[in-house]
Amino acid sequence: MIEVARREEQAPVIEVRDLAKTFRVGLLGRQVEAVRDISLALHRGRVLGYLGPNGAGKTTSIKCMLGLIQPSRGEIRFFGRSHRDPLARARIGYLPEHPYFYDYLKPTEVLDYAARLYGVPAAIRKRRIGELLERLGLSHAMDRTLRGFSKGMLQRVGIAQSLVSDPDLLIYDEPLSGLDPIGRKELRDLLAELRRAGKTLFITSHVLGDIETLCDEVVILRQGQAVAAGRLDDLLRRDLLESAATLRVSDAGSADALLARFGDGVTVQQRGEGLLVLRLPSERLLELTQAAASLNAELVELHPVRDTLEELFVRKALALETGGPATAGVRPEAT
Ligand SMILES: Nc1ncnc2c1ncn2[C@@H]1O[C@H](COP(=O)(O)OP(=O)(O)OP(=O)(O)O)[C@@H](O)[C@H]1O
Ligand SMILES: [Mg+2]
Repeated sequence: MIEVARREEQAPVIEVRDLAKTFRVGLLGRQVEAVRDISLALHRGRVLGYLGPNGAGKTTSIKCMLGLIQPSRGEIRFFGRSHRDPLARARIGYLPEHPYFYDYLKPTEVLDYAARLYGVPAAIRKRRIGELLERLGLSHAMDRTLRGFSKGMLQRVGIAQSLVSDPDLLIYDEPLSGLDPIGRKELRDLLAELRRAGKTLFITSHVLGDIETLCDEVVILRQGQAVAAGRLDDLLRRDLLESAATLRVSDAGSADALLARFGDGVTVQQRGEGLLVLRLPSERLLELTQAAASLNAELVELHPVRDTLEELFVRKALALETGGPATAGVRPEAT
């Protein structure tokens, strides 16, 4: 028994192998390949950003994982158990893309119902619900029915509901959608807090910048396929290739002379008030400092240009369009 428990704790929290889902649509049964051979492994305490544009297959993947729809192929395991095993399911908190609630209920009733379903003992139910409502900024509305709730408030109820059983794994489909800027910031803080508390998070988004700071790993989907996958730091190629240099120039003439000397391969990002900000290949930095010295320009700031997730996404998406290599998913470790 102890051995079984130990194996479960060592297994990836989520393990997906060769997941595929094809829908048949219309009278002629046209095939839509919504998810194509996705494989990934997510370990305890890690945060995975599951990214991709509209229609990329994010929600379909989640629905397959949670057993809400039947995959066409593939294997899914949570905590080393089949994805249909109730013991595994009990450890998962889920926020659907469009949470739906009976609108005659109050938040306390929704949460109490969910807590009972999960078998949360009566002794801790009330306190936990109170804490969650407080944490999600819903205390003031706890005695109102959901009928009058805004989209953002319903989203918060959905998140509170996902946490009511204190699950180990959170699967959130577009958690930031419908929230205003303050709501987004608060939710990002909450997600970071959950991460610090050791939870494992699987989050989908197409607002890439929103979850960039949270994720350890990302999978980028396009048309159902993983076009990039891996540790975010590796994918973003920190400190490589390009640099941004800010120069103080004495007059417009020396700025022109500097640019004329450099020619192609240098982009002017900003110009004016005696400053010139350039983006250039890092291999030309020495050349820039030498030119600056001879033209009376002073280099005042220099830093590597880091790919943003947005840029990475566009690069990968374009690579696929032009027939470039499609990277395989984060492969589960061989067992
Ligand atoms: N029940 C269904 N029947 C037929 N096609 C479907 C069904 N559900 C999804 N699809 C198709 O599968 C593809 C993937 O859809 P999915 O909802 O998984 O995308 P998504 O990445 O979640 O997009 P979004 O960012 O808009 O939420 C789309 O082409 C969609 O039209
Ligand atoms: Mg979706």
